[in-house]
Amino acid sequence: MDISGNALVVGGAGGIGQACAVVLAKEGASAVVVADLDVKAAGEVVARCIQVATNSDFRAEAVHIDVTKEDSVQGVFRRMVELYGRVDYCVNCVGIGAEGPCDIASMPLAEFQRFLNINTTGTFLVTKEASVAMRAQKLRAVSPSGAFPNRGETRGSIVNLCSAASVGTVTGILPYTTSKHAQLGLSKTSALDNAPFGIRVNAICPSWTDTPMVQRANEGIEGHADYVKAKLPIGRMAIPDEIADAVTVGHPIQGLPRTVRYITTHNSQGKSVFLSTDVGDHHKELVNKSALANIIYSTHKHPVNLNNEVDVAYARKNEPGITVKGGTVCRLIDFAPGHVSPLHRVRSIDYCVVIEGTFRLVLDSGEERLMSRGDVTVQRGTNHRWINVTGSGTLPGRILFVLQDIQDLEIAGLRIDGDLGDLGKDYVGLPGHGAGIHQDKQDEF
Ligand SMILES: NC(=O)c1ccc[n+]([C@@H]2O[C@H](COP(=O)([O-])OP(=O)(O)OC[C@H]3O[C@@H](n4cnc5c(N)ncnc54)[C@H](O)[C@@H]3O)[C@@H](O)[C@H]2O)c1
Repeated sequence: MDISGNALVVGGAGGIGQACAVVLAKEGASAVVVADLDVKAAGEVVARCIQVATNSDFRAEAVHIDVTKEDSVQGVFRRMVELYGRVDYCVNCVGIGAEGPCDIASMPLAEFQRFLNINTTGTFLVTKEASVAMRAQKLRAVSPSGAFPNRGETRGSIVNLCSAASVGTVTGILPYTTSKHAQLGLSKTSALDNAPFGIRVNAICPSWTDTPMVQRANEGIEGHADYVKAKLPIGRMAIPDEIADAVTVGHPIQGLPRTVRYITTHNSQGKSVFLSTDVGDHHKELVNKSALANIIYSTHKHPVNLNNEVDVAYARKNEPGITVKGGTVCRLIDFAPGHVSPLHRVRSIDYCVVIEGTFRLVLDSGEERLMSRGDVTVQRGTNHRWINVTGSGTLPGRILFVLQDIQDLEIAGLRIDGDLGDLGKDYVGLPGHGAGIHQDKQDEF
């Protein structure tokens, strides 16, 4: 998606809210205002947004909001318009969930009203003030870069985090379900009210997502964790980044699932445990946005030093070049439909595994092979290009590359260097092997 405007993320200090704020910053928003009851935690989210922001004019700040108070909500929108000029995206991620057993026969009125107040009245106030602010601003192109020319103009976009409990229910969450059903109704009706003004209102209805809200339920309700586990068809909860993707439609190569990366470590008893769950690092658009690289890991020495997680710190901190001298790079690349990569040679030995789709791997001799899902090529420093022919060029595809450094290479009596051709532009300034020199002959092939 073409994200370039100002975003307000309400409840931005929470699990899903912070993922939305960070993704919006990463995708190119010009400003991200993180509003939450917990302004200290909101400040920490702002710091992460600043780290990953890609818009050169990026601004961010944390503000206090209580969505149950009209003057508080109005004040945040007023401030945002005064300081930033307009509110292009408003994502409402505030919510409370069940933290203890609840049954209709024993539910105190005050507890029921607390849910309606935060989840439903809060959504009413945020959606109302977003509508007021957006109706007062001028239309702008949905896609200012021109990448999506047929999307027309908009005054803004509002997304409310509803829930699977907005359309169904399970036992024990009566006030949550009630408030979430109402929240969905509010979102649908305000979408119709706002449509003539060029303002979109959408609802996202996630199922269980691994956030503090669910962690609190696991702690407060006996058997909740096991209950959730038994109900999950894919064996795990969603992670907040996956919900943020739905909010921003942030996957530039549409139609491929977000990859989840798990990294393991050891606890103080020496048992193996999971250290982190995320979506990879150093995401990078390649070849005029027709491919997207995701660095799963990189190392810079062999053998690798795992002590004190120094390898993890290295991989997270350093965006690798196409390869790393003396090390390895594990890179996942998503290719747009019909993508044709520049002819290039990397000074490395590459294990290439097709994860999704069908590709033609074409070598500079003219030889080629058709690779389908699960096929593997061991590429030994050869000059080649990839052509994504998935669905006859109508669908995206994905390949996992593991690259390892090699010794100096001689072919037919000549010393061979890497040559990335047009791909070199995407790796300028990164460590590892050089960006290569454009090869004039590449277009003959
Ligand atoms: N986590 C899930 O499994 C799940 C599933 C479906 C829907 N949702 C919905 O997604 C949204 C976000 O959930 P989450 O899991 O990230 O929750 P979370 O508890 O991690 O975050 C909620 C945030 O809302 C803030 N907040 C609470 N009351 C507030 C108030 N009065 N004013 C301003 N901020 C307030 C909290 O400080 C917190 O930062 C909620 O609406 C939730 O109902 C979550």
